[in-house]
This record gives sequence, C-alpha cells and structure tokens, in this order.
Amino acid sequence: MNIKLHVIGTGYVGLVSGVMMSYLGHDVTCLDTDISKINQLKKNILPIYEPKLAEYLPALVKSGKLRFTSSYSAELQNSQAVFITVGTPPLPSGEADLQYIFTAIDNLCEWIRDDCLIVIKSTVPPTTCNRIIDYLNNKNLKFSVASNPEFLREGTAVDDFLNPDRILIGTNNKQAEDLLKEIYRPLTTRNIPLVTTDLVTAELTKYVSNAFLATKIAFINEMANLCEKIGANTKELSCAVGLDKRIGREFLNVGPGFGGSCFPKDMLALVQIATHYQCNFQIVNSVINSNYQRPYDMVDKIHYIIGNDLHNKVISVLGLTFKAGTDDIRNSPAIKIIEILVDKGANIKVFDPVGMNNAKKELKNVFFADSALSACKNSDIIIVATEWSEFKDLDWSLIHRQVKSPVIIDLRHILDGDMLKALGFKYCLI
Ligand code: UDX
Repeated sequence: MNIKLHVIGTGYVGLVSGVMMSYLGHDVTCLDTDISKINQLKKNILPIYEPKLAEYLPALVKSGKLRFTSSYSAELQNSQAVFITVGTPPLPSGEADLQYIFTAIDNLCEWIRDDCLIVIKSTVPPTTCNRIIDYLNNKNLKFSVASNPEFLREGTAVDDFLNPDRILIGTNNKQAEDLLKEIYRPLTTRNIPLVTTDLVTAELTKYVSNAFLATKIAFINEMANLCEKIGANTKELSCAVGLDKRIGREFLNVGPGFGGSCFPKDMLALVQIATHYQCNFQIVNSVINSNYQRPYDMVDKIHYIIGNDLHNKVISVLGLTFKAGTDDIRNSPAIKIIEILVDKGANIKVFDPVGMNNAKKELKNVFFADSALSACKNSDIIIVATEWSEFKDLDWSLIHRQVKSPVIIDLRHILDGDMLKALGFKYCLI
C-alpha cells in the first residue's frame, strides 16, 4: 500500500530515508527550512556526497513520488505519517539538544490531521517521545508518537536502508505499529527482521548500539598499541578474533579513532543519560577518553618516526573525512591530527577525493593539493588517514621518486606494505 509521508529535515538521515521510502513506493515530501538546499534538491542536486543516492533521485522526482518543500503548509494535511529527522547536536554538557525536534513539532502541529502519526527518527534520549506526548497533551493535541531509530552509515546509507540488519519501531499503540509495519512492508517481505518494542526501549537501543560499536573500535585500537610493541600483526589478529561469531569481524578495524556525527556525540549523550539516572558508566567513559586520546597518540608516533623536530618537515596527509565514502569531516580524526601537527609547526599538504570543500572551511594553515600525487611531492612523510580505496591504487613507484624521504604511516592499514617496502618505502603501521 502506498502511504503519504512527510520527512522533516534533509540531513544525511532525512534525505536518504525520504528518497528511499519514496523508492519503496510511498508518496514522500521532504521538508527543510533551508531554502537553498531545497532549491538544489528540486534540481536533483544533492547537498551531500552519498554514493548511489543520486541514482535514485531524478526518476523519483520526475514521477512525482518524491517532492521537496521549504515550508510547512496545508500539504501536510495529506500525510499519514511525518518522520522527524532533524539534528540533535550536543549541548556543552554533552546532552542532546532537542530544540530542533520541538520546533518541528510546533510547526507541523498547525497543519497535520488528527490521525497523523509523528515518527521520531532523529537520535533522541530515552523518554523524549513520552515528553513529546506530554507536550502535545498540554496543548490538547492527541497525535500518536512513535520511535523509529535509523542505523544508516554514511557512505553506505542506500544499501543500509535497503538491507538493514533490523528495522526497529517503538510504539505505544497498535495503530501506530501497524502503520509503520505497512511503511516498511516492502522490506519485511524480503525477510528483513522488524523488532517492535515500546518507545523508551527503541530510543535507548540506538544509543546502546552505537556505544557498543564504538567500544569495539576503541578496544581494538588499544590492542593495536600492544600489537605494535610485541610485533604482532594487528590485521590478522582482528580477523582471527572476529571470526568468533560471538565477537564478529565488523568494527574491529584499527584506525586513528572513531569520528563522524554520531558516535562521539551519542557516547557523550549516553553518559549524560546514565548520570541522570545515577548509573556510573565506567566502560563508556573509558571509551570516550581513549578515543579522545587517540589522535594525540597518533601524533606522538608520527613525531617519533619523523624525528625530533617537526618544524620545516613536509607532512602529506591523504584523506580528511572521518571515514571513506563520505564528504563529512565532522569529528574527523584526520582533521584533529592535522590541527595538532600544525600547532607543532609542521608544513602540511593535504588531499581528499571528496572532502576538500568541507575541509577548506575547517582547516587553517595547510596546503590543499589538487591530487594525492601532488600532495605527496617533496614529502618527508606520508600519512594515510582515511581508508579511501583509491589510495591503494596510486602510482606509488612514481610517488617514491618524487618524495624527499620515502616514509609512509598507514593509520588505516589499507596499503600493500610488502609492495611499498619493495619499492623502497619505510612503511609503518600504527
Ligand atoms: C554510525 C553507525 O554505524 C550507524 O549505525 C549510525 O546510524 C550512525 O553512526 P557512521 O557514523 O556513518 O555510522 O559511520 P561508521 O561506519 O559507523 O564509522 C564511525 C567511525 O568509526 C568512523 O570514524 C570510522 O572510521 C570508525 N571505524 C569504524 C573504525 O575506526 N573502525 C571500524 O572497524 C569501523
């Protein structure tokens, strides 16, 4: 059955969810108060880099099943469900800032019909849906509110939407549950598991999932430090450990620490939530501290490898985004490492396949090269900070001839170390 929906907020989650729910056959209007973004989207121009999304957009817009608007209007009266996907950025305390959620609620309440379901897809602290219900009740409004957290990863969001490990819906009434089940029916008929629960459990599940994944990363990064001292092979260790089904191979890749718009923010918010309920979260706090320290440890190791003085050393950094497959540099460990190195007086040349524009807004006192090759010219040391697969295929033999000193530090463990050593590079993994 085709259902009429609105999605409020066209960030990574809102845009991908809106486009893909329209692909599932529903009539979707994506609403964002950022007029320039909406104008771009109407012209099929994506405001973000997200692989595969552009393949779906034009046909859906042309068919009329996907529309974009910048205003709350009477069109909302047609919607059976409104998904809220606005940001919940951290307040200085780490607590999630819910002001955009409540502004959206205020705006849409004027228009939606009585039986419209409000679905919270943004990551919100447990009890937020109940708070929204109370808020509405105080205004004598009786809309149903559901929780439907999203587990999309940037860079693979389209595939994640179509093949999620599970769909999670939290509701407090059967009608809301049935409508959400109907919306996701095209996926559940393909045997994608759908978990139904209450509002607060759905809300908490999102934080717990992210915290567990972040813990895996922090854990393997700590083990990598030991591997380095002992001379053990981290990649093989991750593989051997991860093959145990109880552990799992995913999210055991060593790197410069986790970044992005979710893990760092959600970990801080989870600690705030735990503190509020007088739970002492030692593990989650350790993970936050360990990940905070990680870029500093990376810089210490770079310092050690390059020698004492970083002044006048040319350091080439390949990869600026928080991971491959995205143009997002929010909480990117690469950016943090560069900022520390700049403070220490190093000359930094950088290149990223898609993140340059965003990085230019953030990074000061670095040289933005127009290719990886040009970034590596006359380099004293090359640092691979993001796991873009194209870095594997660079002409490393040519690069070897153009560097001042043939040293590579592979923070993501993606390059072919044996090949690089054969070319004459000193190849370091940390
Ligand atoms: C994450 C969750 O995976 C997703 O379910 C949730 O909805 C949003 O937050 P995302 O932030 O897009 O998604 O990226 P993810 O692939 O999870 O990576 C997060 C960070 O962890 C990145 O900095 C990445 O480089 C790092 N990471 C990931 C590792 O260092 N090692 C790994 O093995 C996996």
